[in-house]
Amino acid sequence: MKKSYKINYFKEIDSTNAYALRNLAELSDKQIIVADKQTAGKGRLNRSWISNRENNVYLSIALKPCDKVNNNLPLVNLTQYMSVVICKILEKYGVTPEIKWANDVLVDGKKIAGILAQSSIQGEVFKGLVLGVGINLNLSQEDIQLINQPATSLNLILGNFVDRDRFIEQLLDDFFENYDAFLNQGFSFIKKEYTDRINFLNKKISVTVLDCIENGIAKEIADDGSLLLLTENMEQKVITMGDICINESLY
Ligand code: BTN
Repeated sequence: MKKSYKINYFKEIDSTNAYALRNLAELSDKQIIVADKQTAGKGRLNRSWISNRENNVYLSIALKPCDKVNNNLPLVNLTQYMSVVICKILEKYGVTPEIKWANDVLVDGKKIAGILAQSSIQGEVFKGLVLGVGINLNLSQEDIQLINQPATSLNLILGNFVDRDRFIEQLLDDFFENYDAFLNQGFSFIKKEYTDRINFLNKKISVTVLDCIENGIAKEIADDGSLLLLTENMEQKVITMGDICINESLY
């Protein structure tokens, strides 16, 4: 079947996200940038994403749903949609992944995939969005030690080499199969599949938003994908951004 997307391959690049953002005007909607290595891979919150090993996923998708502009596009939930797509593929490999709100994918509590969405806005005009995906498919134990948070890689879990190109093809086919339905229906389209895979509901968590930390119990994922937190002071708070960590030893 004809693919709805095209792929540009690079042996080495600074960052597939940075490249896509720089060249967004020339890129077509659904254009994919894949690199074997990145020299300046970026993670969320200005962290770096170690990207110096081949046969891992370093890719970005340029999305320009601008013809559909109606202000109701669920763009903030695209990373959550992608996290579900990644989980479903990992499950086909026999692995049981979990999602750490909002969109980290973990196996056995260790991060295997990260997603970084960056929008391009000029003045008040939305020009498009770059959705970057990094997935550890083939890292060594030594590589893992260099990552500054608990991390894992699919090859280490399965005990064998993982074919990157096959994984990327599955990822993109699955992402685009339901992309239009997701844009039309928003988070509700994935709410069940998302909540079935989260690991922190009804647990004590700490949420870090910029420099503030809020402790509480994660009560629910709302219909718009935000997190409802019952704080230590018994207040209900709606969390729309931040990093969470499960912290059973709290109060
Ligand atoms: C995170 O911090 O969890 C997000 C990591 C996103 C990494 C990917 S790798 C491909 C794309 N290019 C980048 O520079 N970052 C994203």
